[in-house]
Amino acid sequence: MQTKKPWRLGTRAQLLLRGLRYSRILPYTSIDGWLTVDEAITLYELARALPHERPLVVEIGCWQGKSSVCLARGLQPKNHGRLCCIDPFDATGDTASQDLYADRARSVGSLREVFEQNLRDAGVHDLVDVRQGLSQDLARDWREPIDLLFLDGDHSDEAARRDFDDWSKHVRPGGFVVLHDAVHPVHTGPRRVVEQRITPDPSWVDRRQVDSMFVARKACQ
Ligand SMILES: C[S@@+](CC[C@H](N)C(=O)[O-])C[C@H]1O[C@@H](n2cnc3c(N)ncnc32)[C@H](O)[C@@H]1O
Repeated sequence: MQTKKPWRLGTRAQLLLRGLRYSRILPYTSIDGWLTVDEAITLYELARALPHERPLVVEIGCWQGKSSVCLARGLQPKNHGRLCCIDPFDATGDTASQDLYADRARSVGSLREVFEQNLRDAGVHDLVDVRQGLSQDLARDWREPIDLLFLDGDHSDEAARRDFDDWSKHVRPGGFVVLHDAVHPVHTGPRRVVEQRITPDPSWVDRRQVDSMFVARKACQ
């Protein structure tokens, strides 16, 4: 006998029920990726509320642009906001994710092309600076202060720690770091960063969790 699936609201309806203002990020709902409605809203709201006149958001691990669209839509009203998207766009990943990435990438052809098309469809392509490559390579020459850093790349323990150490030092006082999958049954890297780097360090304040996402603000000195 077939068991009935429990009835659930679709993602678009869930988003609009949170408030009509979130129709700004509706395009995110049709992009492949891993982001709950509340996580998407959190990224959008954080980017939208950045106080700096020319805010810079850096995203590590973009896949097909689901989270990028939320961040970019938040920056859009600011005129001078910029989102830097770092990803090799070749389905590289930690061992726990590789097969899943390869499987899902096979059906789309070029990940970079799909990513850019998704940004164009959402009307945010012009404020995104795409850096194709590995975060550890691009970190070497990075100099700019970051207002919001979103870490969602390689989730292994070593890589998550390395990304946090390489990039969080560039977050300006008052700026934010956000880690995805900080509560996850398989990926332990982001959780260990929270436990070992953020929790013991009093310079990370206003900590909170939204679904699997962890948010902290760097205290102003
Ligand atoms: C979980 S997905 C990102 C999901 C995306 N943020 C979203 O919301 O849909 C992880 C991405 O990180 C990329 N990645 C893996 N290792 C990386 C590295 N060392 N540097 C930058 N990106 C990396 C993967 O190729 C993949 O596109």
